Amino acid sequence: MQLKQQFQQRFGALPQAVYSAAGRVNLIGEHIDYCGGCVLPAALSLKCRVAVRKNSTRFLRVAATDLDPVAVIDLEATGNYRGLAWGNYQAGVADEMRKAGYPLVGCDLLYDCTVPFGAGLSSSAAIEVATAYALCRTAGVEPDKTALAVLCKQAENNYCGVNCGIMDQFASANGKAGHAVLLNCATLEAREIPLDLRDCVLVLSNCNKPHNLIESKYNERRGEVETALALLQTAGDYSALAEVPLSVLEQNKQHMPPVIFRRARHVVTECARVEAAVRALGSGDLAAFGQLLNASHRSLRDDYEVTGRELDALAEAAWAHPACLGSRMTGAGFGGCTVSLVRKAGVPAFIGEVGAKYLAEIGYPASFYVAEVADGIVEE
Ligand code: GLA
Repeated sequence: MQLKQQFQQRFGALPQAVYSAAGRVNLIGEHIDYCGGCVLPAALSLKCRVAVRKNSTRFLRVAATDLDPVAVIDLEATGNYRGLAWGNYQAGVADEMRKAGYPLVGCDLLYDCTVPFGAGLSSSAAIEVATAYALCRTAGVEPDKTALAVLCKQAENNYCGVNCGIMDQFASANGKAGHAVLLNCATLEAREIPLDLRDCVLVLSNCNKPHNLIESKYNERRGEVETALALLQTAGDYSALAEVPLSVLEQNKQHMPPVIFRRARHVVTECARVEAAVRALGSGDLAAFGQLLNASHRSLRDDYEVTGRELDALAEAAWAHPACLGSRMTGAGFGGCTVSLVRKAGVPAFIGEVGAKYLAEIGYPASFYVAEVADGIVEE
């Protein structure tokens, strides 16, 4: 059944509008957003759609097509819903909007999300951005998408306790079909980079590892790079780790605990790989782009230590496949997806062979999606 009809069944009238925000894949520049560097995500056609209608109350009624419970959120008490299993992202967004002085009106919301949960493709950012946009538009505000992304990131930091950077929400809001977004996370300046992959596509492979402590390990890495920056600030006037040249890092190696040095080396070398990847895409050198994906994965595996055996198994199986030009984990890591550049003609064999190797090695299957790069926020 169509989303509008489902909305009518749940809430007794057709919605006024349907909006959507995208999931994202990060092509390269991993664990760089909170270090003040450049990242290269793209918005996906996997997205969160929300149908919305004003309800003339001071409450949000929040439902999902695949869930029975309806979360009811009092707009005068948006701070009270932190523990909700369903509805906490929406409450967090409403809470940030209220604090920032946005007008809020009561409304009914029905969500239909095709971004798989826990896959590292930013389903939470898609829910947040779709919610913020729907609430703004329903209250008669045409919001600035970047301001909205920042607000949604703050909701995730303050309400949901995840100390994430800006990349996911920015891509979810500002992504553009057929393009990656080169985002400078220090300035929020963004450039659309045409993604002409010719005879190749991006294949997302979800390792399907059950959720485990991603948030605490993520926050631990953030602490480690803060330590690295503090140590390197004795060597120069740096306001972010992404500004530190590799030569300066290497000169200071003996003053740094080995783990902290390796974390910093990932950040500094990954920033250089982002620049090289943009050049490779610009000149159509897909082989070079693929090699940079591989190097990024190795750095995340050996220096940043956020891959784990499941993502390594997927990446290694992809590297060994003749149709694959490059492959790396994408997102926070510890689970979730890899992104692989694969020749179109070889995709079925790639999925078959990588899937079989993964199953044999890990004991449960991976899932595969051919990525379509789409717009961020859309009004249907
Ligand atoms: C998660 C966070 C992002 C970013 C990535 C790693 O997706 O939400 O802000 O830090 O991890 O690149």
